[in-house]
Amino acid sequence: MGYQVAIDGPAGAGKSTIAKLVAKRKGYIYVDTGAMYRGLALHFLKKGIDPEDIKSICEACKDVEITIGYENGQQQIYLNGENVTGRLREEEVGNMASLSSGIPQVREKLLELQREIARKENVVMDGRDIGTSVLPFADVKIFLTASVDTRARRRYNELVEAGEKCDFAQIADDIAKRDERDMTRDVSPLRKAEDAVLIDSSDMSIEEVVEAIEKQM
Ligand code: DC
Repeated sequence: MGYQVAIDGPAGAGKSTIAKLVAKRKGYIYVDTGAMYRGLALHFLKKGIDPEDIKSICEACKDVEITIGYENGQQQIYLNGENVTGRLREEEVGNMASLSSGIPQVREKLLELQREIARKENVVMDGRDIGTSVLPFADVKIFLTASVDTRARRRYNELVEAGEKCDFAQIADDIAKRDERDMTRDVSPLRKAEDAVLIDSSDMSIEEVVEAIEKQM
């Protein structure tokens, strides 16, 4: 069993940036479980399935294989053997992932893969249910959050920098809605594990958050 660091929290809290840095500094493997949900979501979209069509989503889980690999230290997601990493951040894929990740069959499909990686390697794994469900005995559990306003501002700045047109109020509204959906779903809802350390990054720099996590290790 490797050393396990579980980082959970809502969308836009900075989990992946922070988890990648902690992993790099410690020489651990960074595992982005959201990308696995996005890989499965892309499979459902490729099959033309409607996000509300639970029956077809469950059916489509039967003939799909998600695997992960690393290229130059960067996690890659393979969907039935094809590297689909470049498509995972598309808006449509994110929406499908958000809806389909509430379905038990979808979560079961990925649970064993996530646990297997953590059995073999020292990992920093980020997601929504790592400390509560995937790795309940993780050595360190962090619940990383930030206010809706802060998270919306970070996302807004990212989009503006990428030259995209966007509306701050709309982004804030989307984030609040996604929080609500992630926190109120029946299966593996987003919540802080009792033994997780809460870090609110609203007024912290990236370096400060990384140091706060390293103090727990
Ligand atoms: O972190 P992300 O935005 O890439 O995750 C995509 C979706 O997957 C998100 O809506 C929540 C879901 N997810 C999940 O349910 N459980 C995880 N461990 C990781 C992500």
